[in-house]
Amino acid sequence: MHINPLEKKWLFASLALVAVFLGSIFYTAFERNIHPPSHVETVDSAKLHLGGEFAEDKLGVVGQADGSVRVTLVAGRYGFYPRQMSVPAGRPVTFRIASMDVLHGVHVPMTNMGTMVVPGYVAQVTTVFPKPGEYPMLCNEYCGMGHDHMWSRITVVA
Ligand code: CUA
Repeated sequence: MHINPLEKKWLFASLALVAVFLGSIFYTAFERNIHPPSHVETVDSAKLHLGGEFAEDKLGVVGQADGSVRVTLVAGRYGFYPRQMSVPAGRPVTFRIASMDVLHGVHVPMTNMGTMVVPGYVAQVTTVFPKPGEYPMLCNEYCGMGHDHMWSRITVVA
């Protein structure tokens, strides 16, 4: 079978590109162990209520010895629990969130607080609220019929 020389060149060029792309994926992922930056910590989403960090009586705001604050939340259709929380302004607030069911997203407008909450993983994000006020915490990943009602209220106090 005759292949036009120019066509042959393009064939080799495209195959070489595929090899480069696959090679770079394998090299970075397996050889160098480089992955997208994320907080990878797993949790059994079906057993959150049975005990451990995300049991119902452990949720909410806890002050730390260094003056920062930790907020433990569970996301589930259709709310973030607890529904209301109070955190200080001007101090680091670390949110730790687990989903009890499907994929949710969390977003606090006018802050850098935003992450996906993937079932099976603990989402963690730290932010500082610069000034006191009422902030909504919204779900920004479509999670079902009640998605648009999924939100909690954050009161930032001075
Ligand atoms: Cu949860 Cu949308």
